[in-house]
Amino acid sequence: MAKVRHSRLQARKWSTVTLVLSMLFMLSVVLLMLLGLGVFFLPINDDDSAPNDLTSYRRMASERGKGLGKRGEQWTEVLSWEPRAFIYHNFLSKEECEYLINLAKPHMVKSTVVDSKTGKSKDSRVRTSSGMFLRRGQDKIIKDIEKRIADYSFIPVEHGEGLQVLHYEVGQKYDAHFDYFLDEFNTKNGGQRMATMLMYLSDVEEGGETIFPAAKGNISSVPWWNELSECGKQGLAVKPKMGDALLFWSMRPDATLDPSSLHGLLPSFSLSYFIFSCGSRMIKLALHSRLKKI
Ligand SMILES: *[C@@H]1O[C@H](CO)[C@@H](O)[C@H](O)[C@H]1NC(C)=O
Repeated sequence: MAKVRHSRLQARKWSTVTLVLSMLFMLSVVLLMLLGLGVFFLPINDDDSAPNDLTSYRRMASERGKGLGKRGEQWTEVLSWEPRAFIYHNFLSKEECEYLINLAKPHMVKSTVVDSKTGKSKDSRVRTSSGMFLRRGQDKIIKDIEKRIADYSFIPVEHGEGLQVLHYEVGQKYDAHFDYFLDEFNTKNGGQRMATMLMYLSDVEEGGETIFPAAKGNISSVPWWNELSECGKQGLAVKPKMGDALLFWSMRPDATLDPSSLHGLLPSFSLSYFIFSCGSRMIKLALHSRLKKI
């Protein structure tokens, strides 16, 4: 008698298990059918942007360092592959540009160039601007910007030179030159300069373009061709726009010097403007200067 009850209990348990299993099976079939009919989709990716869309990366990079003020829509543009040059639109906010100008204004001194024989700075007629250097990581805002440059250029912050604020009055210019060093003094002292980032702190009505006279490719295919000054049409030119940044490489990916990175700053015919520039070196400069102090 007890045995019968036991087996009946077991049978009931088994039927419950079968019922649950068959329900799960039916549910799977229904889900598969719905998937097949395209009624709903499996959430493969939360981000519905196309695979080659960089929006999510850009969001990550820009959210890390909030910076000062609100920046407009940020997007990048390949300017040229020879030299390797890229434009970052709205790299700095208007507030950051104004902050940098006000910070630098009282300390402007006449710009110098590097003497290719001695490696020392010297006065020159090829560069008629004035400028000042900021210390690396001088304050929170500068630190934020340095981090942003590192994020966008993929060169660690420790390789960055101090930022420099430049001021060009009407007619002032910087003749075509290379940013890499040809002297031993500077090459040893921190290594060769790999890349430079120019940040435009103000708009210029006419002229004042950054120009690459040795760039390869069709220079008249840039969308802003008709806005360029006559001089600007002599090479691949970028018109300064407040907040935009131009990153260009003085070295090729195989670490040879790239002569197509020859560039100059044309005189402007209207407003004076500021450029905030920064180079990145082969050797960690932060470590270098720390070692020197010891
Ligand atoms: C250069 O680009 C411009 C504008 O896109 C075009 O009209 C012109 O034909 C191009 N020139 C050459 C040599 O490809």
